[in-house]
Amino acid sequence: MIEVKNGFFHISNEKFSYCFFERNGKLYHSYYGSSIKECVYTDFILDDSDKMEYPEFGRGDFCIPAIVLRTVNSLSTDFRYVSYEILSKKADLGMPALRNGGETLVVTLVDEIVGAELKLFYTAYENGLARHAEIKNLCALPLWVDKAMSACIDFPVGEYETIGCCGRPNNEGVYCREKTVFGLRSIESSCGTTSHRYSPFLCVVETDTNEDYGQGYGFQLIYSGNFSIEMEKTEASNLRVQIGEKILYGGIKLEMGEGLITPEVVLVYSENGLGDMSRSFHRLYRKNLLNPRFADKIRPIVLNSWESLVYDISETRFLEFVENSKRLGVDTIVLDDGWFGKRDDDTSSLGDWFVDRDKFPNGLSPVIERCKKYGMKFGLWIEPECVSPNSELYRMHPDWAICTAGREGIQIRNQYVLDFSKKEVRDYIFDAIKILLENNEISYLKWDMNRYLTDVTDAKTYHNYVRGVYDLYARLTTAFPHILIEGCASGGGRFEPSILYYSPMIWTSDNTDAWCRTKIQYSASLCYPLQTMSNHVSRCPNNQTGRITPFSTRGAVASLGCLGYELNPSECTAEELYLIEEQIKDYRKDAQLILTGDLYRLLNPFQDNAFCELIVSEDKSEGYLVYVRGLNEPNIANPRRIRMKGLRETATYRILERDKLYSGQELMSIGLQIQLKQGDFQSEILHIKEARR
Ligand code: DGJ
Repeated sequence: MIEVKNGFFHISNEKFSYCFFERNGKLYHSYYGSSIKECVYTDFILDDSDKMEYPEFGRGDFCIPAIVLRTVNSLSTDFRYVSYEILSKKADLGMPALRNGGETLVVTLVDEIVGAELKLFYTAYENGLARHAEIKNLCALPLWVDKAMSACIDFPVGEYETIGCCGRPNNEGVYCREKTVFGLRSIESSCGTTSHRYSPFLCVVETDTNEDYGQGYGFQLIYSGNFSIEMEKTEASNLRVQIGEKILYGGIKLEMGEGLITPEVVLVYSENGLGDMSRSFHRLYRKNLLNPRFADKIRPIVLNSWESLVYDISETRFLEFVENSKRLGVDTIVLDDGWFGKRDDDTSSLGDWFVDRDKFPNGLSPVIERCKKYGMKFGLWIEPECVSPNSELYRMHPDWAICTAGREGIQIRNQYVLDFSKKEVRDYIFDAIKILLENNEISYLKWDMNRYLTDVTDAKTYHNYVRGVYDLYARLTTAFPHILIEGCASGGGRFEPSILYYSPMIWTSDNTDAWCRTKIQYSASLCYPLQTMSNHVSRCPNNQTGRITPFSTRGAVASLGCLGYELNPSECTAEELYLIEEQIKDYRKDAQLILTGDLYRLLNPFQDNAFCELIVSEDKSEGYLVYVRGLNEPNIANPRRIRMKGLRETATYRILERDKLYSGQELMSIGLQIQLKQGDFQSEILHIKEARR
């Protein structure tokens, strides 16, 4: 609901209210929190006239600004309120944004001296609020946008903490909870992509907020490039938090009539702790972000060649791989890196998206046909944004790689990044992939992106590069709507909502160690639904850690999302092959619940030496629980009593593995004793079904 009365704007639904007001032409932030049904409005105005809705630079607010515009003769702005409208949500921002929006509040402001217009957009969804801003140059002189955040919130004086995630390749999702401190702090990426380093997500919580209790304010940017989340705690203990694209040095120049649209930010509020906030993010993304063609649908169970075959592939070897996989029950075999150009290692061929005829003399048809013979589909790896210096494409078009004239480009993993801000570059890559997809029966693509940007010449190229990536994604998903794209950036390097808009699942990490994965997946679940996480069971000792975990635990952890395998069946024991078949059969029975149920995090692997997640169906009639212990020690709680959540108190449930009945209240208040086998990294899966009486 959007209500406007006496200059007071109130956007609300069952879960939250968001209020700001206009006085003497300026916009002030008033309130963001639990839903207020009856709003009399007057008092807020006196209390809150120091909290800005979209703070500007240079006119007396000395805290971090949300907007900085520059002309040849000014550095400050003074936007004044002009009008508001309530419209249907804009269908196209030129980049991903939440889908199926209802009413949008648009507030227009103008700075007549600078000659610029600012529009602020607010759309309430059942599970969150979407915001963005648009700036337009109205005057004949150029205007530089140095900063334009998507949203800013001035919090009331209080003690807050923040929760976010940082990480590195193979060590994504390091959970960080910190006190807010005086002064300025920024979590940001200038890598050209969102990066492994920091995630474009932050949650502001009260000091006593936990999984089930307390207020949480989640912020997440739907953007795949440079971003910043800035926080300032002032001398008066006010906290300002803002999030948006990070426009790099030099700014973006707008000529007369030109505009800039900021990416959309999603704000999710909960008054019932982090678990509830996550469930709202999950519902929001399932309903309003993911491509409806794939959202809530069971994803194919994939066997990927990377960890086992790496670059050592050929028609014979791959046919053997397919033969050895035929009884496992997987849906799709994915041929990872190494099938194109002359790619025998990572030093060449990116950009040459045609089949290596030395390895596959008959093209891909024989392997595709062999997959089909056994009822399986075929998927392929690509990395469209990158080019190897040692490639035909680079030799033909060295100027297509992002570079600074006269300087040798930085190579990361022996590759450069193509300048996707240029249409001819995107056209070439689109055509190459199109030919591949038209000539081969491919139902699945793994879209990788293995490096950050360097040698970029100006802020606008960073900005336009990201929009170019979206353009390619949009063209390919429109031309080949049936193809499921698994996003990848050596794992979680680009796990964010804008890529999820096109790729309904993302390779969560190259780290497939089951214990590490409990942490990585736990952090990812702060905002991403399980159906977006691609998780594979791999061989042990694990490639990344050398650790040995039970096969059953690897399967249990991988089942919490889109299950797949990353191993060579010919190297598996008979028992492992049997376990794979059983895991796949079991997963198929539970997949719909796992992908669409509500997630309850019961134990936190970062602090409990154990991990436990329970998924409960929307109607609360069934649950799927995975419990994993880390290192075993004598005399630690085993059996451990695990208290469930999210069930119906009055219902009676059967735990299938025990064939015993319990009331929902018993399971949630007293809990269930779960005994694990001796040894490290043991696990248990339980199925909970309402017993109809
Ligand atoms: C990085 C990905 O994360 C891996 O899974 C694999 O696809 C390699 N790239 C291939 O080069």
